[in-house]
Amino acid sequence: MSVHYPRASTTITGHKSVREALRATDIYSSDLQGDADVRDYRQLPLEVDPPRHHLYRVALAPYFVKPSIEKFVPEFRAHADNLLKKFFATDSQDVGAQLSLPLVMQNLGVIYRRPQDVAEWMSWGPDVWTAASEKRDGKVLHDYLDLIYAEAMQGNSDDVWSEIAHLEIEGKQISAAEFRGIAGVMLAGGRDTVVKLFNGIMWHFGKHPEDLDLLRAQPELMSAVIQEFLRFLTPLPVMNRTTVPETGAENLPDDRYVGISFISGNFDESVFTDPFTIDFNRGRNPHLSFGFGPHTCLGNHIAEIEARVFLEALMESGLQWKIVKEEIRFHGGEFASVPDHFASLHIAKI
Ligand code: HEM
Repeated sequence: MSVHYPRASTTITGHKSVREALRATDIYSSDLQGDADVRDYRQLPLEVDPPRHHLYRVALAPYFVKPSIEKFVPEFRAHADNLLKKFFATDSQDVGAQLSLPLVMQNLGVIYRRPQDVAEWMSWGPDVWTAASEKRDGKVLHDYLDLIYAEAMQGNSDDVWSEIAHLEIEGKQISAAEFRGIAGVMLAGGRDTVVKLFNGIMWHFGKHPEDLDLLRAQPELMSAVIQEFLRFLTPLPVMNRTTVPETGAENLPDDRYVGISFISGNFDESVFTDPFTIDFNRGRNPHLSFGFGPHTCLGNHIAEIEARVFLEALMESGLQWKIVKEEIRFHGGEFASVPDHFASLHIAKI
């Protein structure tokens, strides 16, 4: 998930300040229209404040709790094993396009009971807003959302979209716009973020095979490894809030947006010793990669379980690899060693 906004006038940085701001929803509101160039409805529950926000969270929670996702582990594992086998059988393929994206999409196909849509989701590439061309456009996503909404309303399908379309909020069935907002974020939330996490994992182990050997020797480090990759890679580095809630407001000042820098919290030296080093022995790792407060990522268990299964598949594959070509855009300034976007990443077995 990445949301486009006009430039923020200020950015809140630092672990403590970011956490405080994320809790203060009355000052830093999520009542805003992101991606205004490509959509005119709110992504839900992302762009609504408490108390209404809570109603969406409660309605969606059953789809995202740990036991709901753990039951898909055997399928996630089969996807990872098959894709790794295929990937390493051919020379010089792109990790993002040939491994991470298909894996993430195949896993979502199982979670949402829509395996028939995986090929279409993959054809969108990592960012659905640029699925059809370089220029941002909502048509591809909106055509898909209209189609699945119409199908769901006919009532003869048995998948997640059909259940979402019939969710009730305060006793009232959600509207078509609310459906778009929820389904849109369910598709976008776990796409580029998890792809970036997997690309980053392949990149790091390509540069530091000894770290994969360490995990092989000490599998009990698994959770620490996942949390450390999440911290270092910070797949969603910043999100905006508004100081003036946008619903019903007549005059919206241009300087209402405030950036909340999750990445600054993740590299805050007062919390993380030597933050620019990937260290699997950190102990406590209170990273902010999933945000904090009421909007904390709803898909965190999906991401963590998918990552665990992927890492287990890598560990047990016995594979080692090196980077042969990389085209990476790094964050600027003090985060210059942290990858922001893997335009391409080619690796070879050693
Ligand atoms: C490594 C992977 C992921 C990262 C780093 C990530 C990051 C985040 C962050 C930082 C937020 C909070 C945004 C804010 O406060 O404005 C968020 C919210 C959200 N994420 Fe994720 N996410 C990931 C994976 C997923 C997955 C797999 C899904 C679902 C398939 C998902 C669905 C959502 C939803 C629905 C929200 C909105 C929650 C709310 O507003 O209450 N995310 N995510």
